[in-house]
Amino acid sequence: MLTDSVGRRITYLRVSVTDRCNLRCVYCLPACGVRWLPREEILRFEEICEVVRVGVSLGITRVRLTGGEPLVREGLVDLVKRLSGLPGLDDLALSTNGVLLSREARALARAGLRRVNISLDTLQPERFRQITRFGTMADVAAGIEAALAAGLHPVKLNVVVMRGVNDDEIVELGRLAFDRPLHVRFIELMPIGEYFSRDKLVPAEEIFTRLEALGPLRPASGVAGCGPARTYTWEGAQGTIGIIGAVTQAFCAQCNRLRLTATGKLRPCLDDTAAVDLVPALRPAVNHERLATLFRKAVAGKPEQHTMAQREYGTPRFCMAGVGG
Ligand code: 5AD
Ligand code: SF4
Repeated sequence: MLTDSVGRRITYLRVSVTDRCNLRCVYCLPACGVRWLPREEILRFEEICEVVRVGVSLGITRVRLTGGEPLVREGLVDLVKRLSGLPGLDDLALSTNGVLLSREARALARAGLRRVNISLDTLQPERFRQITRFGTMADVAAGIEAALAAGLHPVKLNVVVMRGVNDDEIVELGRLAFDRPLHVRFIELMPIGEYFSRDKLVPAEEIFTRLEALGPLRPASGVAGCGPARTYTWEGAQGTIGIIGAVTQAFCAQCNRLRLTATGKLRPCLDDTAAVDLVPALRPAVNHERLATLFRKAVAGKPEQHTMAQREYGTPRFCMAGVGG
């Protein structure tokens, strides 16, 4: 059992499988000058499996694969296969930008993936290109359909809300959850990197109010894996709405997660650069006992709260690629 200094039980591990990405979303990565890490610094699949195995022996029951973009890592289906076979791991999910999902969804589902979160910040192709700098919206739309068809469930869509960029689409994006069995989650823009400015932050409260243009929202329950989101639905809707007030409604008291970076560091908190390096327990040979000790150390170092709301906004700290957005 992993319990931190304020009594939170840590049961959820986000695993970044690569720092690389086929997009450059404005809120995540700079337009140019992105240098990817050398291959040998990235954990091999066997190493990731060892870390997860030790995590599961200590009480981790749920894993989410993230990136960068996890589907740019070759052989991801094999990793899913290996992880989904681990006894004690109840839930295996994937966060993806959806670009490569249409051709992988079925194989991922067969390999034991349960569910998927897909980034989608806009329904306008031009705007999609502006936000992601490289992406084609039709690819993501095909990815969403493929995920539904493959039986991945629930299919969640992640919308990072930015005032003056896509906040005029809150209602249209929300409508997807009305018409389809999709779970649309609106995420407050977090002060990460150079892109953030205070005026771009649309508070959770305001997102909620705008969505009520489609009718009164009531709290929803029963959607798998809705950690930090407050979830709602409308009468007659097929899906749900989630609102993640990452900045204005810090969810730290319920935080149950750790992050494994692509280079093998365990980060106890999204907003903290402190990390415990697992590599000495993995190379040249795996040492399970040492891995367990390092897990406990990371959990012991988990801060009670992040400081994203207090801190001066806009301070560049790190970007999400490679730490598992
Ligand atoms: N603010 C909010 N969410 C972010 N993500 C990345 N950067 C930010 C940010 N600055 C999240 C988004 C995206 C996922 C990969 O990481 O949800 O869909
Ligand atoms: Fe890639 Fe996701 Fe970052 Fe966009 S937010 S650049 S899709 S890692």
